[in-house]
Amino acid sequence: MDTSRMFEFPVKEFFKQPRSLLGAGAYEMAGPEAAAMGLRHVLFVTSGLRETGIIDECKTNFENAGVSVTVYDKVESNPKDYNVMDAYQMYTDNQCDGFVSIGGGSSHDTAKTAKVVAAHDGRNVNEFQGLNQSEKLDTPPLISINTTVGTGAETTPFVVVTDLSSPEKPHKWVGADGAFTSTLAINDPVLCMTQPPEFVAFTGFDTLAHGAGAYTSRIDHLSCTPLGLKAVEMVQRHLRDATYNPNNYEAMEGMVWAQYIAAQAFSSALLDILHSLSHAVCAYYDIHHGLNNGIGIARVWTYNQPAAPEKFADIAKALGEDTRGLSPIQASDKAIDAVIRLARDCGIPDNFSDVNPNYVKSEMGRGEFYEDRPTKIESDDQELEAMAEHMMNDLCTPGNPRDLTLEAAKEILRDCIYDPMVRKTSNGYRQNIWGADPRMGRETHAYGAERQGKPSRPPEGTPTQ
Ligand SMILES: [Fe+2]
Repeated sequence: MDTSRMFEFPVKEFFKQPRSLLGAGAYEMAGPEAAAMGLRHVLFVTSGLRETGIIDECKTNFENAGVSVTVYDKVESNPKDYNVMDAYQMYTDNQCDGFVSIGGGSSHDTAKTAKVVAAHDGRNVNEFQGLNQSEKLDTPPLISINTTVGTGAETTPFVVVTDLSSPEKPHKWVGADGAFTSTLAINDPVLCMTQPPEFVAFTGFDTLAHGAGAYTSRIDHLSCTPLGLKAVEMVQRHLRDATYNPNNYEAMEGMVWAQYIAAQAFSSALLDILHSLSHAVCAYYDIHHGLNNGIGIARVWTYNQPAAPEKFADIAKALGEDTRGLSPIQASDKAIDAVIRLARDCGIPDNFSDVNPNYVKSEMGRGEFYEDRPTKIESDDQELEAMAEHMMNDLCTPGNPRDLTLEAAKEILRDCIYDPMVRKTSNGYRQNIWGADPRMGRETHAYGAERQGKPSRPPEGTPTQ
């Protein structure tokens, strides 16, 4: 019986989580854990974490436990297909028997895909995009030691890889497969305290995107929704402190828990088009994933709000807003106000064209393919269309609470690039924002209006806030 015409996601799946350790000092257990797994020679997969001393410390920890270490430290932000294949090559050349990823999502995703490539005798990593594309679940062991408060990649069955070798490039694809999941995940707040403040803020917005995305997703998975909402509440409570008080252990521990439970939530509840948007912009500009989410979150919530006002009302409450006496619609407006306030407090730029390409750990305009790309994001109509199509085809899009159209995707992207980050909902007008007429809901139109000779304000008589 085909029930998919009556119910969205009629059958829900729960992806199992790896065994995990969380707490101060947890990373020192990695070496002994590897030895207990019977590993003799592991490949560290990392971006290098320069000036933190973490890699050297972990290496000593493994060697003291009798496990040899080879290091692949060339992982780039938004890991590229060649990062994965190079890590796999180093793994086989050195006859390693396990992987250890150390860092944030890029390092974990590189190792997660490299172990699946290893299990398939070196097959091109780009063949594993999409859902359950692996033929072998029996992969080499992987210990993921996490050092950021964002992706949750140390526990999820997802990977995100940028394909720069196919004619489709640039293409940032998502893979979902139990074969990607780590064997052991380690979260140690002490390691996360080595992050630069901007990085804490950016990755914190990734956590917020995961929590809220899982909570509002169409999957509506009851094992996940309470965790998603709790993660939103914890980000509200701890992100400012964790960003601006680098020695505040309690705040960082709160963010570590938030990122950890948000990842559990979206592992089975999936996400929304905020991640589709981020994947598209990252594919074209190699911009930080969390920074993307920080810029896009208020826009995507505005688009999704009419499809799930009660859930956004809950999010408003979790973000600390007083919603007593308000209708769900009024309360959900407050979620957007609160998230804009949080973004501004944490230094998230107003829009993509305001991004300083020299932000910490930026790889914009560097490396293969991207060195010839502009570092100021000012997409023309053709590029907006290409990125909108990228969004439409993203694995995260079907879970979005509101159907996405190509025109809407283009308009959300245009708003993220050119408009100020302000709330654009009021008096039922929201129902038409970014759908019925792509011009509606705009506040400024530097790009589209001038170029197309269209009015820079919504049509006469349209209610505005
Ligand atoms: Fe993310």
